[in-house]
Amino acid sequence: MTETPIALVTGASRGIGAAVAHVLEPSYRVLLGGRDADALAKRAEELPGARPWPVDLTDFEALGRATAEIDRLDVLVHCAGVAELGTVERSAPSVWRRNLEVNLVAVVELTRRLLPALRAAHGHVVVINSGQGLSAREGWGPYAASKFAVRAFADVLRAEENTIRVTSIFPGRTDTEMQRELIAHEGREYAPGDYLRPDSVAAAVLAAVSATPDAHLTELVIRPNPH
Ligand SMILES: NC(=O)c1ccc[n+]([C@@H]2O[C@H](COP(=O)([O-])OP(=O)(O)OC[C@H]3O[C@@H](n4cnc5c(N)ncnc54)[C@H](OP(=O)(O)O)[C@@H]3O)[C@@H](O)[C@H]2O)c1
Repeated sequence: MTETPIALVTGASRGIGAAVAHVLEPSYRVLLGGRDADALAKRAEELPGARPWPVDLTDFEALGRATAEIDRLDVLVHCAGVAELGTVERSAPSVWRRNLEVNLVAVVELTRRLLPALRAAHGHVVVINSGQGLSAREGWGPYAASKFAVRAFADVLRAEENTIRVTSIFPGRTDTEMQRELIAHEGREYAPGDYLRPDSVAAAVLAAVSATPDAHLTELVIRPNPH
C-alpha cells in the first residue's frame, strides 16, 4: 500500500493558505501552519486529514523544533506573508525588516530546514509570490522588495536542487484579510467581487503539484478577471 503524501502549508489559518489546505486535503496529510492556534484548530475540524502545525516562522529556534519531526515532505506551500506598505520617504527600517523577515528570510529558513525531507520525497516547493514580485509600484517598496527577493530564492533553489520542483505563483489582488487591510490603507471601498477568490489561487497550486512528473510548472501568473 502506498503511503499518503504529506503537505505542509504555511499561513493556513486563513486566506490563501486556508484555501490551499482545503484543496490539498483530499490527497495529502496536511500540516496547517500558522500562529493562531484557535483558527488552526477550527481548520483542522473541517479537514479530517489535516492537523495544526503552530509555529511563528520568525522564531528560528521554535522552527527548528517544529521541523525536526518531519523526515519526509512531498509538498511545501509557502503562503504565510505580511504586507506592510509605505513610500521610501516614510518607511522606517523596521518596516523593510518585517516584510523581509516573514516574506523572505522565514521562507528560506523553513525550506532549508526541510531540504532533507523534501529530497527524500522528490518533493515540490510552491512559493506564493505576488504581482508585486514582478513589477513594483509606488508606495509598495518594502513589500515588493521582499517578493522580488523571494522570486530570486525560488529560482536559485530550482537551479540548485535537481530532485525538487519549485513553483512561484504570482497572484493579483485576492479577497483575503490582507487585501482588506491594503484597501483600507489606500482609503478605498472594499468590493470582494473585484478580486481573485482564494480558491482560484489554490486551484493553481493544485495544478502545479499535480503536474505529471515530466512537467515542471516553474511560474504561474494569475490576474483577476473582471468579466
Ligand atoms: N491577498 C492578496 O491580494 C495577495 C495577492 C498576492 C499575493 N499574496 C500573498 O499570498 C500570501 C497569503 O496572503 P493572504 O492574503 O492569504 O494573507 P492573510 O489573510 O493576511 O494571511 C496571512 C497568513 O500568514 C500567516 N503568518 C503571518 N505571519 C506569520 C508568522 N510570523 N509566522 C507564521 N505565520 C504567519 C498568518 O497566520 P497567523 O496569523 O495565524 O500567524 C496567516 O495565516 C502572502 O504571501 C501574500 O503576500 C496575497
